[in-house]
Amino acid sequence: MDLLHSQLDPLAIALVGWIPTVVGFAIRNLVYRACGMRAKGFFWIQPRVTIDNLHRLRVGRNFGCNSGTYINAIGGIECGDDVLIGANVTISSGRHEIDRLTSSIYQTPVVPKPITIESGVWIGAGASILANLRVAEGTVVGANCVVTKDTEPFSVVVGVPGRRIRFRIR
Ligand SMILES: CC(C)(COP(=O)(O)OP(=O)(O)OC[C@H]1O[C@@H](n2cnc3c(N)ncnc32)[C@H](O)[C@@H]1OP(=O)(O)O)[C@@H](O)C(=O)NCCC(=O)NCCS
Repeated sequence: MDLLHSQLDPLAIALVGWIPTVVGFAIRNLVYRACGMRAKGFFWIQPRVTIDNLHRLRVGRNFGCNSGTYINAIGGIECGDDVLIGANVTISSGRHEIDRLTSSIYQTPVVPKPITIESGVWIGAGASILANLRVAEGTVVGANCVVTKDTEPFSVVVGVPGRRIRFRIR
């Protein structure tokens, strides 16, 4: 199953991931679902977004993702409703085992670790979301931030590593 997806997903991305205009959005909605991606409604994935393991990505209503972003859903990525992902973001739900010094990093398998992105989250351009964490409801992640741990609901996090600078005013 995983072997099939490792071949199928890059092919699907290469075939339809570049198509501009609303035609591209519509085709990606059809093709990515056929590859196993689950979505509650029409999603807005711009051209030049790379997604590995489409069958482990689940998004809610009104999912938007800008160009140049890389998503690896190997460990499972679940997004709530109204999630916006900026350009050139990296979201990878797996990591290499780094403490097994008997084998090279090349040989250590990727350990799947899930990521949850709750409803109403906006992730700024160039940010990185590391594996095994939860971006809480309504969080704003600043441009180029590296999110290394769970965020608090309606917080604004910036920097490397990501730190809360304030809460959003409700
Ligand atoms: C996170 C963000 C929304 C914060 O906006 P804000 O609450 O109005 O923040 P402010 O501009 O008042 O800045 C508050 C402080 O955080 C710092 N800051 C703001 N954004 C930052 C960022 N991305 N990285 C590091 N520091 C940042 C400011 O320098 C300021 O620091 P200071 O108090 O020492 O002067 C905004 O800065 C941001 O990064 N937006 C993303 C834009 C983007 O990616 N657009 C393209 C999408 S495709």
